[in-house]
Amino acid sequence: MSALRETPAWRALEAHHGDVKDLHLRGLFADDASRGETMIAEAAGIFLDFSKHRITNDTLPALINLAEETGMPGHRDAMFRGERINCSEDRAVLHVALRLPRSRSLVVDGVDVVREVHEVLDRMAAFCEEIRSGRWLGHTGRRSKNVVNIGIGGSDLGPVMAYEALKSYSRRDMNFRFVSNVDGTDFVEATHDLDPAETLFIISSKTFTTLETMTNAKTAREWSLNAFDGDESAVAKHFAAVSTNAEGVSEFGIDTDNMFGFWEWVGGRYSMDSAIGLSTMLAIGPDRFSELLAGFHEMDEHFLGTALESNLPAIHGLLAVWYRDFFGSQTQAVLPYSEYLHRFPAYLQQLTMESNGKSVTLDGETVDYSTGAVFWGEPGTNGQHSFYQLIHQGTQLIPCDFIGFNHSINPLGNHQDLLISNVFAQTEALAFGKTKEQLEAEGVDDSLIPARTFEGNRPSSAITVDHLTPHSLGTLVAFYEHSVFTQGAVWGIDSFDQWGVELGKALAQKIIPELDSEAAPDLGHDSSTNNLIRRYRKAQGRK
Ligand code: F6P
Repeated sequence: MSALRETPAWRALEAHHGDVKDLHLRGLFADDASRGETMIAEAAGIFLDFSKHRITNDTLPALINLAEETGMPGHRDAMFRGERINCSEDRAVLHVALRLPRSRSLVVDGVDVVREVHEVLDRMAAFCEEIRSGRWLGHTGRRSKNVVNIGIGGSDLGPVMAYEALKSYSRRDMNFRFVSNVDGTDFVEATHDLDPAETLFIISSKTFTTLETMTNAKTAREWSLNAFDGDESAVAKHFAAVSTNAEGVSEFGIDTDNMFGFWEWVGGRYSMDSAIGLSTMLAIGPDRFSELLAGFHEMDEHFLGTALESNLPAIHGLLAVWYRDFFGSQTQAVLPYSEYLHRFPAYLQQLTMESNGKSVTLDGETVDYSTGAVFWGEPGTNGQHSFYQLIHQGTQLIPCDFIGFNHSINPLGNHQDLLISNVFAQTEALAFGKTKEQLEAEGVDDSLIPARTFEGNRPSSAITVDHLTPHSLGTLVAFYEHSVFTQGAVWGIDSFDQWGVELGKALAQKIIPELDSEAAPDLGHDSSTNNLIRRYRKAQGRK
């Protein structure tokens, strides 16, 4: 049995789960009328109501014991100090340094990383001012009013999520597009109505080797140069790069003056607040981008400095462990009640699943407990008319995060009241359901009672924030980053590597020449893969 499962805290939680698993939220609320006012936490503008979880007053202390016995607080402190906690890649994990104020300093391997971070931020700000003011002119002297970010994974999902979330703060006289998929359709649809003379591409790639991004970047270069009679000097005016790989950037032909760097200690999925956020800064401007960073930082300070019993990301992360390991929940839903956050679940999928989709510990032992849940979601209220049925009456227990804002950016009539009434109603319906007795009292026909009974006892968190702003977006993202950290630290896994995506990438590199070679290739795969390759070649008219 693993060391984790042998800790006194884990054993105590197993016993505690035995006591709690059959308790109903109806009873828990009836027994403690103040539960909704005590099982709450608030910091950095985020209010978390965790009272509608299947917990008693003893659960959080027991989970905190687990965090302490597994050394989570020490691991957190080591991350903030810049220690190499990403063991399999032998790297520090310092996204928290990306948002340290200019006045601070953090010396790692003899280098003050805060100074370096602000040097890049200042260069980004100067570049953004040039573009936003219209002083930056393209090859033919036209203003660059279209910005196309080319990247994938962390080099796309953060930028696109942030742009969508903060659209109301963005320059409406500019167009922002995002190309990620190697499917040529993505590039074609993103650029079909753009004029190359007014278009700036940002090639965003930490490694500057990613197949999808490099392929799209080459296509963008051709698309651009075609419009300028192949004049290579146009690249300097229409391409910028964000990367840690200066050599790769200059080999591609992008002037390193137009390159904005970051560091190996920033993981791709933790990079939206690094130079990878260049498109965000172009959209909302440097001052608003600083507000975003300040929001991240406020949540960092809270996570680092607050006792676990009132520490929002720690509570959220420990509850995730509670459901995953003790209730056996396989998935977790995130349901933002803001149309602006429509890409937030997709962003969180990479953050949570690439981080905690691991099955060995830092010591290389195979785990004998469950790690990261499948993370998914859609904005409300749309999801209510689609998949909520399964959350309410299906056979799986799916903890949900409901995210709502007190004030709308677009206060139209009573839309916001209607929207938020649904947040509250859903958490209530999930927790308390509807009993046979209630249905009988309503005169529902006996034959319909089974189908119309809601068991309830379905857990959810309500996360409310005043306004959606750059600052509050930063706090929300950092809240989830640190929740993911908390879970990974308890599980003893490396939340910062992603070896699992490498095998498919390597195999695709092997298959590419087998698809496009002129002569019939010698195929050495399994019979299924061989057959799929042959059928595809045949469809292309190849031997
Ligand atoms: O394939 C996974 C991954 O490595 C992600 O972790 C990363 O965000 C994405 O690819 C893109 O990588 P890059 O920024 O180096 O192009």
